[in-house]
Amino acid sequence: MVEELEFLLIKPDGVRRGLVGEIIRRLEAKGLRITRLKMLQLTRECAEKLYDVHRGKEFYEKLVEFMTSGPVVAVLVEGDGAVEVVRTMIGPTDGRRAPPGTIRGDFSTSILENVVHAADSEERARYEAEIAFDPGCDAYDYDL
Ligand code: CMP
Repeated sequence: MVEELEFLLIKPDGVRRGLVGEIIRRLEAKGLRITRLKMLQLTRECAEKLYDVHRGKEFYEKLVEFMTSGPVVAVLVEGDGAVEVVRTMIGPTDGRRAPPGTIRGDFSTSILENVVHAADSEERARYEAEIAFDPGCDAYDYDL
C-alpha cells in the first residue's frame, strides 16, 4: 500500500457545465479522500506557473487564456496509489479519444477543454497544489 497525494483541477468548462459535484462524487465513490477543496479564479501569472512545462508549445497561449476564463476548483486527494488511480479515472488528454467511463471520455469532445487536469506525479501534485491553494493566485473578487 502506497499512500499518495494527488492534485486535481476542475477546469473552467467543468465548472461552467455544472460538473463539480459529479467529479467529486466519482473521486469519493472510488475511495479517495478529499483533503482540501477550493474554488478560485486563477491569475494569469499562476496559470503560467501551473503550466510551466508547456511554455512555448503552440497551444500554450490558448491554454492560459482558457484556464483564466472562469472559476476553477482545486482538489487535493489522498489514497492508495492516488496518482495512477486519478489519472486512470480522468482518461487521456483528448476528450475525443478518451474511453467512455473516464471523466474526459464521458464529458469532453475537446483536447483543450477537457474538464479536468491531474498532476502526473506526487512531486508535481505538491508543486501544483502550492500554486492553487496560494491566496495570491486567486483573482476572484469576493465582494458580495
Ligand atoms: P492537461 O492535462 O491540463 O495538461 C495540459 C493541457 O493542455 C491539457 O490538459 C489540455 O487542456 C491542453 N492541451 C494539450 N495538448 C493540446 C493541444 N494539442 N491543443 C490544445 N490544447 C492542448
